[in-house]
Amino acid sequence: MNPTYNKLLLLLLVGCTFIAHTQSYFAVQDAQIIAQYKRNVELNHAKISRELVHRANWASVGTISSNHLIKDYPMVNIIAIDDNNKTNSSTGRIRFLLTDLDFTGQDWQANNKVTFMFSDEQTLNCKNEKKDPMEPTCARVIISGQIERLSKNAPDYKTALNVFIYRHPAAENWIKEHNFYLCELDIQNIFVLDFYGGPHQVEASDYYAIQI
Ligand SMILES: *[C@@H]1O[C@H](CO)[C@@H](O)[C@H](O)[C@H]1NC(C)=O
Ligand SMILES: *[C@@H]1O[C@H](CO)[C@@H](O)[C@H](O)[C@H]1NC(C)=O
Repeated sequence: MNPTYNKLLLLLLVGCTFIAHTQSYFAVQDAQIIAQYKRNVELNHAKISRELVHRANWASVGTISSNHLIKDYPMVNIIAIDDNNKTNSSTGRIRFLLTDLDFTGQDWQANNKVTFMFSDEQTLNCKNEKKDPMEPTCARVIISGQIERLSKNAPDYKTALNVFIYRHPAAENWIKEHNFYLCELDIQNIFVLDFYGGPHQVEASDYYAIQI
């Protein structure tokens, strides 16, 4: 074959492959966009929030630091949480143990503005579905509020503490060794990222009203 003919043939082949590729790519992409749009319309953001909170055993918690080395910097910590009631059903009420020996325990008393984050990656759901934890399709809920220290004299304190220890058996030792106290988050704002298109705001009342 002559070299010019060869080059032409090659160009033609490459061209065909390119067209085939672009066409199938568009078809697949269209189907994806339609499926994702449908999914987005059907998403119940309040329910997603409740499920993420209920599934998680812990949250990343941000405070404004009161530590002299990083005063006023954002501070983050891991705090064990539980939202179960006596019969181990989800209530959405975020409860946790704090001690004044730890960062969070000190920070909230200087500035009681805290933010909790829960991600679907905490139970490895995103990894299993090959989603990067930073993508909005790897759902996350970001809950801001104030910390309420529960009174040890309240009639349901002991029960609430037992429910917490049932979920976090190690807590029994923490309580023995240090002065831990049970707290609840007084929710002021909920942001949910569960898809492309930006965060959704969920009212605390809608969040609590969900039955899961
Ligand atoms: C716990 O929550 C579930 C679901 O909302 C409810 O059916 C159950 O009665 C609650 N149990 C207690 C002891 O409050
Ligand atoms: C529910 O939690 C309590 C502790 O609060 C525990 O004693 C009980 O066995 C749990 N029940 C179930 C069905 O997991």
